[in-house]
Amino acid sequence: MKESIKNMKAYQAELPAEAVKAKYGLSHLARLSANESVYGPSPKVYQAIRATAADILGYYPDGQATILREAVAKHDHVAPESLVFGVGADELIQLLTRTVLTPGSNIIIPDPTFGEYAMHAQIEQADTKKIPVKLETGQVDFDAMLAAVDEKTTMVWLANPNNPTGVFEKRSDILAFLEKLPKTVTLVVDEAYYDFVDEPDATVAIDVKNYTNLVVLRTLSKAYGLANLRVGYGIMQEPLYGVMQAVRLPYNLNTYQIVGATAAVEDQNYLNQVVAKTQVERKQFQTFLRDNNLTFYNSQTNFLWIKVGDTKKVGEYLLSQGYQVNDHLNSEWIRIALGTSEDNVGMRKAILTIMK
Ligand SMILES: Cc1ncc(COP(=O)(O)O)c(C=O)c1O
Repeated sequence: MKESIKNMKAYQAELPAEAVKAKYGLSHLARLSANESVYGPSPKVYQAIRATAADILGYYPDGQATILREAVAKHDHVAPESLVFGVGADELIQLLTRTVLTPGSNIIIPDPTFGEYAMHAQIEQADTKKIPVKLETGQVDFDAMLAAVDEKTTMVWLANPNNPTGVFEKRSDILAFLEKLPKTVTLVVDEAYYDFVDEPDATVAIDVKNYTNLVVLRTLSKAYGLANLRVGYGIMQEPLYGVMQAVRLPYNLNTYQIVGATAAVEDQNYLNQVVAKTQVERKQFQTFLRDNNLTFYNSQTNFLWIKVGDTKKVGEYLLSQGYQVNDHLNSEWIRIALGTSEDNVGMRKAILTIMK
């Protein structure tokens, strides 16, 4: 076994809803701990999957995910042959790491950020340099990230907006940073929450064609409400594109994933409704936090990162009230996904009670 992974711990998955309900005697549980969409996917996704004939089951799926590739290329204004699909953005993170990192190389990430970048680096026996975000605003410290680059650095990861902080970085700042990075360093901008951003120029996907060392990741797990379907993709140029296509498993997406994801991408009306509702809820929640002098970072996502002091105490209380949030990322800050209007009202009440 690789020495670097001997002490690794398995991912802390959510307790099943039924188990949590039974434990706390709850009739209603709002699952707001994994940034899923409370609105679910477009009804057209399930219709498309149901309409897929069962006789496909005996044959391998389309390894190029052609219909999905065309739908995404059109929607994102990128070349079809710049898209690598995977079982969630998770698989792209794993594949990129596997493709680019060698033992003894290093990656640079903001701190805090999504845990999988460092986890996969560890599996590949690479080091991770964590650069704290700016305390006041949660913004990425680009200067410090740049100063951390050395001759062994091969990747920089930016989740934009970031998870768990929810904080968004401007395209102009990311491109200025990229210009200063050595061309041998791959910058991955993970835009898992991009759809929720209400600022202009929210993506660097259109810039991929200009940089061989820029990769953009997207997922259908968040705004598209398809966390269970497991579909994500990366946008990248040659030579990385060709190598990633060679490294990935040939039939990583099955036909139901391809058909369902295509229907989701083609129903932009539905996506826009979800995003509009989320932005309204986010605004109301942030107004509440501000009015009550609670410390939080300005979010451009479907979740909020709030300083509550004793995370475990607050998390446990919210759970007892039927709101399952993420209380295991930090000892002082919790991450809560936005729920339905009703759940958000209830959660605000519960927060006031426990924070008194
Ligand atoms: C920043 C970020 N990237 C990637 C993922 C993984 O998404 P997927 O469900 O597509 O694997 C998540 C999920 O929470 C995330 O927060």
